[in-house]
Amino acid sequence: MFRKIRGFRDIYGEEIGYWRKIEEVIYSLSESFGYSEYKMPVLEKAEVFDRGIGSTTDIVEKEMFAFEDRNGDLLALRPEGTAGVVRGVVENKLYAGSGVKKYYYYGPMFRRERPQKGRYRQFYQYGVEAFGSASPIVDAEVIQLLCTFFDKCGIGEFLRLEINSIGCPECRPGYKNKLIEYFSKYENELCEDCKRRLSTNPLRILDCKVPGCKKVASDAPVMIDYLCSECRKHFDSVKYYLEISGINYDVNPFMVRGLDYYVRTAFEMITDKFEANSTVGAGGRYDGLVKQLGGPDYPGIGFAVGIDRLVNLIKEAGLTYEETLDIFLVMFPETVDAGLKLLKSLRDENWGVDMDFELGSMKSQMKKANRSQASYVVIVGEEELGKNAVTLKNMTDGEQQLVLLDELKNILSQKL
Ligand code: HAM
Repeated sequence: MFRKIRGFRDIYGEEIGYWRKIEEVIYSLSESFGYSEYKMPVLEKAEVFDRGIGSTTDIVEKEMFAFEDRNGDLLALRPEGTAGVVRGVVENKLYAGSGVKKYYYYGPMFRRERPQKGRYRQFYQYGVEAFGSASPIVDAEVIQLLCTFFDKCGIGEFLRLEINSIGCPECRPGYKNKLIEYFSKYENELCEDCKRRLSTNPLRILDCKVPGCKKVASDAPVMIDYLCSECRKHFDSVKYYLEISGINYDVNPFMVRGLDYYVRTAFEMITDKFEANSTVGAGGRYDGLVKQLGGPDYPGIGFAVGIDRLVNLIKEAGLTYEETLDIFLVMFPETVDAGLKLLKSLRDENWGVDMDFELGSMKSQMKKANRSQASYVVIVGEEELGKNAVTLKNMTDGEQQLVLLDELKNILSQKL
């Protein structure tokens, strides 16, 4: 017997109902906000992620599924979507022309993290990326899309939005020096990872989960106190546009994202329903990334939602989204020909229809119909067929009626 690889999962059965409902929201909501779908490859040159996400980030340093191809190329399974979309924007010259270009994607990402609840080695992201405008109105719109997405999935009330500004290449270096100066005084109290981060990526010390580091970080200088005037203005405008859109937020000055491409606005949607892995969606602005990957100066901003975590949250919140069957068709050996014809013609109308292939007794088929949670049962019995009719049973109130075959579809379309 083969077993799946650690950190990977099979998703099937009842769980699929949640995924399907979320997928419907992804496609309809993104299009209604003017985003068009982008399908990028699952495999890229590893350098796209090294250069895009940053070679000293945990994702690139420790978590990429990277390997040498037969021809010597170093390839990696995508750990996230932004770097690949940006590679595509540059390669396909999508920056040409005016106007904002808005793309969304949905699919599997891969990170070799330590598996636990809410953290998988293959997980799914829904992401959006908006290019071509540095306006803070775009920041507010992207955040609004994120909040609306969770509302449409029915769990907006379980999430809170945190935002921060992490500065730009103008103001961040000065702040970084302040941070290094501060943490150097406490170097002995930092974990081994953070000691290393002191020279490679000192901002990451701010969100280290090790208690000793957390304690030291709680008094560290924070970026929002060192923003340059442009970044300050941008951050104030983002907050203003969020407020006039009626979006509640908390400023979390300690938020630093695990990817190096961010400038200015960073945000996360957090739930307190889980003890760990509580960030369900996150994103930010990355104005230098297109240039970093070989394109022109072309601003961008986006987010990604972890769909596996979202499904966990929806289940924990007690929401039920299972797909329900419209019709369970009961037929018997002596009526199977007429029954199968009816099954096909009902499915042709796009109703969800199922049957019992064993053609069991009335009692056992009704049991299966109950279990299927079908809204209606249609019974194709010999006696009814003699009258060119079938029995239609409403499974919600148990009401039963004899319906002429010619009228069945009409009646069902009024009910379903
Ligand atoms: P990220 O914060 O690395 O950002 O990931 C976004 C979301 O993906 C997380 O908040 C989480 O819900 C989910 N996620 C990440 N890792 C895992 C995992 N191992 N298992 C389950 N879920 C996970 C990005 O990926 C950026 N590309 C977001 C972005 C788009 N920024 C701008 N545009």
